[in-house]
Amino acid sequence: MSNLKIHHIGYLVKKMEQAKQTFETLGYLVEQDTVYDDIRKVEICFLVKDGYRVELVSPVSPDSVVANLIKKYKNAPYHICYETRDFETALAELTAGGFLAIDTPTPAPALGGRQVMFLSSAVAGMIELITD
Ligand code: NI
Repeated sequence: MSNLKIHHIGYLVKKMEQAKQTFETLGYLVEQDTVYDDIRKVEICFLVKDGYRVELVSPVSPDSVVANLIKKYKNAPYHICYETRDFETALAELTAGGFLAIDTPTPAPALGGRQVMFLSSAVAGMIELITD
C-alpha cells in the first residue's frame, strides 16, 4: 500500500468555534477556515501543526453523517484520511485487505470538490480515501 499518503486526521468536535480556538492555543494554524459541507451536513475546518493536518468536523443537523458518531465518540479523532494517485488500485487493495466501503466516492466541498470515500475495517476502524 505504498501509494497511500496521509492527508489528515479527522477529529469530531461538538463546538466548532471553541474547538478551533483551543487547537490554536495548542499551536495549530488555520489552513482553511470553516466550510459548510451541504452533502454531509457538517462544518469542516483544516488546521496544521508540525507538518500534521487536522480536520475538525462538527455536525450542524440531526441528520448529519456524523450525528451518531459524535454521540458515541464525543470530541475525538475518528478517521485518518489517505491520499492516492490511483484511486481504483488503492480501493482494490484496501478491499482485498479487509476494508469495506461505507459509502461511494462523493465530492468534498471542503477539499475543492475532490472525490472522497469512507471505508471501515473490523480491526483498524474507519479511514477516508481521497484522490490527489
Ligand atoms: Ni476527513
